[in-house]
Amino acid sequence: MEQYERPSIKLISSSLPSKGGQKCHNSPLVDIEGISTTELVKQYGSPLFVLSEKQIRGNIKEAKLVFNRLYPKVQFAWSYKTNYFDEVCKIFHQEGSIAEVVSSFELDKAIRNGMAGNKIIFNGPNKKKDDLLKAIKHNVIIHIDNFDELFLLEAITDELETTVQTAIRINMKTGAGNEWERFGFNYENKDALSAVQKIVNSKYLKLIGIHCHIGTFMLSTTPYKVATQKMAQFAQQIKKEFNISLMYIDMGGGFASQNALKTAYNNVSIPQISDYANCITNELYNADFVEEERPTLVLETGRALIDNAATLLASVVSTKRNNAGHRMLTIDAGVNLLYTSFWYNHDIVPTKPYSDFYEDTTVYGPLCMNIDVIRESVLLPALTKNDVVAIMNVGAYNMTQWMQFINLRPAVIMVREDGTISVIKERDTTASVNY
Ligand SMILES: Cc1ncc(COP(=O)(O)O)c(C=O)c1O
Repeated sequence: MEQYERPSIKLISSSLPSKGGQKCHNSPLVDIEGISTTELVKQYGSPLFVLSEKQIRGNIKEAKLVFNRLYPKVQFAWSYKTNYFDEVCKIFHQEGSIAEVVSSFELDKAIRNGMAGNKIIFNGPNKKKDDLLKAIKHNVIIHIDNFDELFLLEAITDELETTVQTAIRINMKTGAGNEWERFGFNYENKDALSAVQKIVNSKYLKLIGIHCHIGTFMLSTTPYKVATQKMAQFAQQIKKEFNISLMYIDMGGGFASQNALKTAYNNVSIPQISDYANCITNELYNADFVEEERPTLVLETGRALIDNAATLLASVVSTKRNNAGHRMLTIDAGVNLLYTSFWYNHDIVPTKPYSDFYEDTTVYGPLCMNIDVIRESVLLPALTKNDVVAIMNVGAYNMTQWMQFINLRPAVIMVREDGTISVIKERDTTASVNY
């Protein structure tokens, strides 16, 4: 039945026509892989995160294909913090990715997910003694972040008389502008070289790789070019000065996903995985490693492999107009569930067809907080209470950074490749959050 919408008079403020042409709106998301979105909400409640197994597998398969075509030795490592549901991590592991973890909690998860220690990379700036002991016990590869960690690790291994496989994280000038100098050892001031020297002089630390992670959602491939050049040069310097042929160069993550950054200009073109791949592998070839000493290229790609594999379904709680006649919607999912809405303009689409009249709308979340805005401005039809909307590309960093704030966290389901549905996290209840 058609819904009646009270008419209102609105001042039209005309601005310069957009170079990108007239704004258009996306079609409704009636189903996810054949399963009705409104039925999903009826069955599992609202809001609801929906993951697609097919999309996840497709993403990692495609990324591997792209890199493997260009370079003979490539290893993906799934960045747990991006989305650490066991069912998600297991898919990446089944597709050949090892694990990249940054905490004791994530390390436990990787072990629980069946990863052998030598297939777990332990990154991060906060490794306490107990974490290192656990990692050593499981034969995990430890990426050392700072001198304090290096000295602690050396003391532990001296005491245990146990050899540990290590790499160092390196930060460097890449031209990206906002270099992440707080992580790892600096390349230019020679801290990285000094760290290598100390590892070489230690009795039980074995250097097998070098690591960097130069930023996230990198809109240009050029910083990867610079970083790969420096990493390759450094690997060759290590060979020359210490006679160590590194097993791998780990270029971290940072590839952009299919989301629109709030800070990026309208139609900015986002590099494809193949652009990053061309850039990184070209520089590895330019470095001219001897064939038998060619290092494996490790990639810790996160958001680019998972963002488009999840949708957040949410329901309209209320509709209003402000004093200027501008349309405002409150939905039952806010920044408590969508951390990334602080910097992305996530696409929001209806889940059933409406008339062609779409109107500029502000979409608010359900929190009793003024900052809870999911989209300042998005074209939406005349939605009414209980209508379901789909928020697109929400797979990365939301289900790990969501907050237990005001409302309980929702269920997360996965549409399997065979069309069945798995509940991978039940909706929280007051009883299940009993602290
Ligand atoms: C060390 C490390 N590796 C990989 C990633 C994944 O990055 P992205 O999601 O940008 O690909 C991160 C994210 O911050 C990281 O810190």
